[in-house]
Amino acid sequence: MKVPQINGDRLWADLMALGEIGYEEGRGVTRTALSPADLAGKAWLVRKFEEVGLAVATDAAYNVIGRLACGAPDAGLVAIGSHLDTVPQGGKFDGMLGVLAGLECARAIRENGIALPWNLEIINFTDEEAAHHAGTVGSRAMMGLLAEGELDKSVGQGRRSFADDLRASGKDPARIGEARRDPKEFACYLELHIEQGRRLESEGIQIGAVTAIVGIYRYLVTVEGEAAHAGSTPMALRDDALVKAAPVFTLLPEWVRERNPEMVGTIGRVELFPGATNVVPGRCRFVVEVRSQRAEDMVHLREMLRSYAAARPGWKVETIFEKDGTPCAEQFVQAVMDAANAEGLSCLRMPSGAGHDAQSLAAAGIPTGMIFVPCRRGVSHNPEEWIEPAQAAQGCQVLLRTLLGQARMA
Ligand code: GLV
Ligand code: MN
Ligand code: MN
Repeated sequence: MKVPQINGDRLWADLMALGEIGYEEGRGVTRTALSPADLAGKAWLVRKFEEVGLAVATDAAYNVIGRLACGAPDAGLVAIGSHLDTVPQGGKFDGMLGVLAGLECARAIRENGIALPWNLEIINFTDEEAAHHAGTVGSRAMMGLLAEGELDKSVGQGRRSFADDLRASGKDPARIGEARRDPKEFACYLELHIEQGRRLESEGIQIGAVTAIVGIYRYLVTVEGEAAHAGSTPMALRDDALVKAAPVFTLLPEWVRERNPEMVGTIGRVELFPGATNVVPGRCRFVVEVRSQRAEDMVHLREMLRSYAAARPGWKVETIFEKDGTPCAEQFVQAVMDAANAEGLSCLRMPSGAGHDAQSLAAAGIPTGMIFVPCRRGVSHNPEEWIEPAQAAQGCQVLLRTLLGQARMA
């Protein structure tokens, strides 16, 4: 099949237009999941899907889906996806590139009159980022991978739970199960993403063919102390929750480094209750995240944390989720390499250290492929996150070629 050329200017214009929603000068884009800005982004995407002539649906997890149906009754489904939600003060590309490149592929397919032998869906998954919720909620809801009661827990101080935010958006969280779909419906899933690391840039390579996505385990740790007056409570009489928690902030990196130099561990969120200058913290709550391609490393860290907590009164460790590393389908690693080659682009096989919605679909047994493009200095989750228009276009072109290569397999 002749592969048409995607329109890089149009893709870039979409990225810049979407990047205005939730943008603040100097602070980047804040479009955390189910926030008013995220809902505005979803509404923007619905209009874009409609302009291209896709049938639009939002499911019970508020995933936004644009569908190009091929008309054959029992045709399979090829899906492209990623996310439009961001971390607080994030960039304009992490997640957005994958969704908008999918949109551009659909436009190129329609404009060139290509008759697909399967249905195509472009999916914007809700809450990939875990800014205030668990992360990859939409894709896990679709794959039936949510844990019982998970959506009712709130991860951030003074934050509503995912269920509360979903309700406020007009969806009934009790019906989230309706977002679930049979993985057998999907012939495959493809996702284009920025690398969020420096490897491609430093090696001067244009495309990454992702071999596997890192495993991520997350825990909510609560340490109880006693809130007290910061002026009149002598040091000897304090039960300061922050002081009790603090050793773990430096122990975690040590545990991780000792276990495996390729593993990473982060405490990116720490909250104090009640959280006032003149109150000795009565409670400290923080999220421990560890990542590795090897489940045994993460299990080891979990046990270190649990035994540390078990030996101390007032400590509690709750699991947010445990997702093992997930391999991409070898057929797609090769297909991405071939597509890059055919486009005259250099390509490298590489694992992903960032988490992605692709992981949920791969974990459900759907053959999954991921394509990376470099981003400037590897910076991501930061307002400085940046790619060049040509890099966006190259990634999109490789995505289209990989996608249309599936015609042979249908
Ligand atoms: C998503 O960006 C993640 O890797 O946490
Ligand atoms: Mn992302
Ligand atoms: Mn991200």
